[in-house]
Amino acid sequence: MTSDLRVPAARSFEAGADAYEAHRPPYPDALFDDILSRVGGSPLARILDIGAGTGRATIALASRGANVDALEPSNDMLGVLTRRVRQEGLDDRVTVRKAVFEDLSLDARYDAIVAAQSFHWTDPDTRWSRLASLLGSDGRAFLFWNAWSLDADHHDLDAVATIYAAHAPELPPDLPRDLVSRMWADGQIDAHPDVRLADRITYGWDVRMSAADYIRLLATISQYAITPAAQREGLFTALEPALGEEVHLRGTTLLLVVAKA
Ligand SMILES: C[S@@+](CC[C@H](N)C(=O)[O-])C[C@H]1O[C@@H](n2cnc3c(N)ncnc32)[C@H](O)[C@@H]1O
Repeated sequence: MTSDLRVPAARSFEAGADAYEAHRPPYPDALFDDILSRVGGSPLARILDIGAGTGRATIALASRGANVDALEPSNDMLGVLTRRVRQEGLDDRVTVRKAVFEDLSLDARYDAIVAAQSFHWTDPDTRWSRLASLLGSDGRAFLFWNAWSLDADHHDLDAVATIYAAHAPELPPDLPRDLVSRMWADGQIDAHPDVRLADRITYGWDVRMSAADYIRLLATISQYAITPAAQREGLFTALEPALGEEVHLRGTTLLLVVAKA
């Protein structure tokens, strides 16, 4: 099978888009309000969404009045994205394009560029220079990621860690971890002459779901998708009963606001 997705692990996004849309935690509404409040205050801003997936950022921004070019290489994701844009009646504000970021022509200029849990999949050698080229002079890029952990007040984290160690030691359990301090992107932004970090904002959230849905959520994550099926199923079989009926997750969304240097 040929693929537009050059990073092998990213090929996991060529299937499972419906499950992704059904089970991944959402982004906070305040995040999208903050983005648009920083884009020249214009409700008709022109925004590029890199790796739009099922359209979570695209739809949130277009619903608030923005014009969005939604860029996505996976046919499966594109199917869900296109359906959702139509269902929301946003066809006139959203242009869906099948492409990877690396293939996008640098002729266009955007008021804002968003990458929702996708910028780590782009080519590290060109990502920052391409981002700067595509931004208008006052433009901003908004790169954000969700991270979550099992709530220690509701789950036996030692038992979860033991299950992972026994069944899939190379996979990281959802134990509390620090997303707020520096991450890989901070160092790259600091080192690149074309971009600077304009702001860094975090949003806290909590979600609950059944243990079965939490297992379905884990199955949407690339690292799990590329784990051999028998090993993955062994982990899930051991993990689900250890979680109790309801899973409580504590989440953080980290937003990096990037400007041209
Ligand atoms: C974790 S999903 C995020 C989807 C969506 N932005 C969201 O927040 O729900 C990552 C997406 O990036 C896409 N992707 C991977 N490599 C890419 C690239 N080089 N250029 C553009 N999109 C890419 C994948 O196909 C996938 O849909």
